[in-house]
Amino acid sequence: MLEGKKIVLGVTGSIAAYKAAFLVRLMVKAGANVKVIMTPAAKDFVAPLTFSTLSKNPVLVEFSTTDGSWNNHVELANWADMILIAPASANTIGKLALGLCDNLLLATVFSAACPIYVAPAMDREMYVNSSIKNNISILSKQHYFIIPSEEGELASGLYGEGRMAEPEHIIRFIIENHSKTLPLYGKTALVTAGPTYEAIDPVRFIGNHSSGKMGFHIAEALAAKGASVKLVHGPVNISTHNSSIKTIGVTSAEEMHKECTRLFAGTDITVMTAAVADFKLVKVASKKIKKKDASLHLELIPNPDILSELGKQKNNKQLLIGFALETNDEIKNATEKLKRKNLDAIILNSMQTEGAGPGGDTNKITIIDRQNKTIHFELKPKNIVANDVVNYIIECFKR
Ligand code: CTP
Repeated sequence: MLEGKKIVLGVTGSIAAYKAAFLVRLMVKAGANVKVIMTPAAKDFVAPLTFSTLSKNPVLVEFSTTDGSWNNHVELANWADMILIAPASANTIGKLALGLCDNLLLATVFSAACPIYVAPAMDREMYVNSSIKNNISILSKQHYFIIPSEEGELASGLYGEGRMAEPEHIIRFIIENHSKTLPLYGKTALVTAGPTYEAIDPVRFIGNHSSGKMGFHIAEALAAKGASVKLVHGPVNISTHNSSIKTIGVTSAEEMHKECTRLFAGTDITVMTAAVADFKLVKVASKKIKKKDASLHLELIPNPDILSELGKQKNNKQLLIGFALETNDEIKNATEKLKRKNLDAIILNSMQTEGAGPGGDTNKITIIDRQNKTIHFELKPKNIVANDVVNYIIECFKR
């Protein structure tokens, strides 16, 4: 979630300022671009060089710079996707509550329209002081998100509440809070991807060219919009980036069938991109088949049609989307498949456009719904196609 995010970290005068160095490391490691603003008092606790080294950005403290120019707080506020004040001292919290603006950090915060997180840090007696409590409560009633202090050993030697939340907990708070604002927050999704392999003997199988990329991108795009995603995939050479996606690897259609039927009842959104083998062998040879005969006959029987079965089980709150790979009479065949499998929508994979279909990095899709509404998309990279699919899903939940 922090990948590519622009974050202003405000560090104020508190002994917990040393922990802000760990925060910068964690945020940079997660792919965020961090700019640190320190209050003048914060410099008594940690040197700006620590933060500029860790963030790889200059640290800002004063309104004006030594060369006579100024640090534009409005520009900084507009640049930021979020502001985090950690540690937030009682003094800074008081000024925020009163609207006092005597340093660069406060001016930036008051100029900002982005989410602002405040992680208080102070001694036990200060934290329970009614004036300070009142100031924190003023902020929480406004647009600030307060990251609760934690209990533990304090710099004074006392034990109690007031310690700044641990850096990992601050990051977790921000991620959880952010996901609540996403359009698919609270929704569960099941995605299938990749090929299935049907064993012939212990070393051979019947497979197909599916890379799994389309399904993996859809799983990522659903997770990025807040859905809790389970990805059931056949043998592939790719992996997920978002650690919240639960992956379940399978080999055969039967195994995929078992996992999907187990998971389906609890899902709001199901997108089946897997290229499931339609047939399997009646009997898998227990030993490697030798080439002693001039010809070899394999007897095949149909695999379960997983999507059709889910279509029979589905209730009217569940959204079920299939893919159709067609070479001719594309719209007609896909529409027929949508009805036969009782889907809410089908995504037609064009095989008539160069660069579309399984294996590659691009795809050209058409979405057809139950009312025969058809949306055509251009040939695009598969990650962008996945965003189109997920935006379509978000629109479905608005109806
Ligand atoms: N599918 C499935 N289980 C199968 C076969 C297909 O769940 N045994 C799903 C695929 O994941 C896809 C959709 O059904 O979402 C359509 O797959 P496709 O191969 O295009 O269609 P088939 O139903 O196999 O029909 P045909 O091969 O005759 O076109």
